[in-house]
Amino acid sequence: MSSRMKTAKPDISPGKAPDKSVVLVGLMGAGKTCIGQRLAGKLGMEFVDADAEIETAADCSIEEIFERYGEQAFRDGERRVIARLLKEKPRVIATGGGAFNSPETRANVRRDGIAVWLKADIDVLLQRVSRRNNRPLLKKGDKRKTLERLIEERYPFYEQADIEIDTGNEPPDSTVRKVLKSLDAFLRRESQDAAAE
Ligand code: S3P
Repeated sequence: MSSRMKTAKPDISPGKAPDKSVVLVGLMGAGKTCIGQRLAGKLGMEFVDADAEIETAADCSIEEIFERYGEQAFRDGERRVIARLLKEKPRVIATGGGAFNSPETRANVRRDGIAVWLKADIDVLLQRVSRRNNRPLLKKGDKRKTLERLIEERYPFYEQADIEIDTGNEPPDSTVRKVLKSLDAFLRRESQDAAAE
């Protein structure tokens, strides 16, 4: 292999930006923020992390929100923030792993966005979430058991996403390429359906 080939950047052609938000859902450690940032760059859209927006709105960290006010208060804030982000303008939104549990959020995303489920193997998730200990749901007990329980509980919700992407332990650019391809196919289908109506 020539040195030029070794250093060549993977070719990810920019995608056509949709006229609604692309909403990344999936478990903790699935790569929603990392992929979301890169995807937004490729689509020429703004990126926003819903968790960071919740922290700004509450003026404290997610850990502190859980500690001081409890999970329910966090969920209420999460639901409100995502509803607001969807209403503002189309962008790429990374959501927290539990956001899609809310029927209201699922309905809002269905109406104003395109949901993309980033699906990763439990070992990949475990490896990623073990790098930092800042996630309230994973602070107590065995992380693998907790993730297994969340998989049971949440997969039926994530399955309702418009697009499902199997990520595996691959470089982020590979996942971004998959998302762009699926998004393109989804948008084509949507415009064909609209034309047929
Ligand atoms: C949560 C996931 C976190 C964050 C909060 C709760 C969850 O976001 O919203 O700690 O319920 O799965 P990430 O999925 O970005 O880690």
